[in-house]
Amino acid sequence: MTSILITGIAELVTNDPERESGLLGVIGDAAVVVEGDRIAWVGTLNTAPDADRRQDLGGRALLPGFVDSHSHLVFAGDRSAEFAARMAGVPYDGGGIAVSVEATRAASDDELRLLVSARIREMRRQGTTTVEIKSGYGLTVADEARALRLAGEFTSETTFLGAHVVPPEARRDRAAYVDLVCGEMLAACAPLARWIDVFCEPRSPHAFTGEESRRILAAGRDAGLELRVHAGQLGVGPGVQLAVELGAASVDHCTHLTSQDIDALAGSPTVATLLPGVEFSTRSRYPDARALIDAGVRGALASDCNPGTCYSSSIPFVIALAVREMGMTPDEAVHAATAGSAAALRRTDIGVVRVGARADLTVLEAPSHLHLPYRPGVPIASALDLTALP
Ligand code: NIG
Ligand code: FE
Repeated sequence: MTSILITGIAELVTNDPERESGLLGVIGDAAVVVEGDRIAWVGTLNTAPDADRRQDLGGRALLPGFVDSHSHLVFAGDRSAEFAARMAGVPYDGGGIAVSVEATRAASDDELRLLVSARIREMRRQGTTTVEIKSGYGLTVADEARALRLAGEFTSETTFLGAHVVPPEARRDRAAYVDLVCGEMLAACAPLARWIDVFCEPRSPHAFTGEESRRILAAGRDAGLELRVHAGQLGVGPGVQLAVELGAASVDHCTHLTSQDIDALAGSPTVATLLPGVEFSTRSRYPDARALIDAGVRGALASDCNPGTCYSSSIPFVIALAVREMGMTPDEAVHAATAGSAAALRRTDIGVVRVGARADLTVLEAPSHLHLPYRPGVPIASALDLTALP
């Protein structure tokens, strides 16, 4: 197996707690050896071993690739008019999801595959090396299974979200739709997914109540899926406590939380994933990241890339928002978008640069990670393509 020695790393973010150099485990003037798809050695340049090939990054910063632990990439259609209406004052309530459902059902497999692959390329160009992808714009047995099959062509982090909203044709009988999600739809989708998620949001007439969510998540768990939950997006609700009680890996949004929610999260391994691109794109108040961090809650940042509440695939943008709008330090934000979001996916092989981890790396056109929030909107981050190295 060919080994590659990467040099010219002005700053290496390792996220390795054993390094004892701050939250990010930073090494200055660093080197990394990669063998195949794994990290084989990490340290300072002056102690680096030899390798078959060398790649000089010329004084750039190198980070663990961004882990986007929350996205909805399998969709067709356009909702830019809904965004414009929102900027004119129309609030978001989840009703627009039906527009994407109609367009997604009408699209062919090849059309959807092209859309997903273009969105993933867009993510890699901005430094994302792992992405979780949810279904949720099919909402029939066949359309949900198709979305997961397509998502599975691009990632192993696939999430069944048949409980995104009650589709328009099922509105007269919500209970029958919940039965379908827990029965035939789950049976078809469980073999295609790692995770199950539910949009638990009693404030939205389209989403699911605490009791409905509990049934759906329990059925998913019985079918062998691991749990994640959308909760606290539009108002406080039962979703955070439910996620903690059922042992979900992550509860996402967490924009509206009670102090009991924060206490429950602090005493649990459930990660709180914040999605500030949503608050930006829905012009809503941001989650109180400081309260969560100060309470000791494990936190993550992700894009939530979707056609309704945040059509941005950019983790650098999310990091800039987290620092500027949520009071996170640059170190906390970078950690949350790498190690934090890896934890939200229960992964220990990504989000960290240490021997044995995946060689998923992101390089900056800058000497330090501080430039991520310092240079918002500037495309300085990209996934390091080791296959393209000379
Ligand atoms: O995470 N909140 C539920 N689902 C998405 C939005 C989906 C849409 O509006 O299309 C979210 O924000
Ligand atoms: Fe979402």
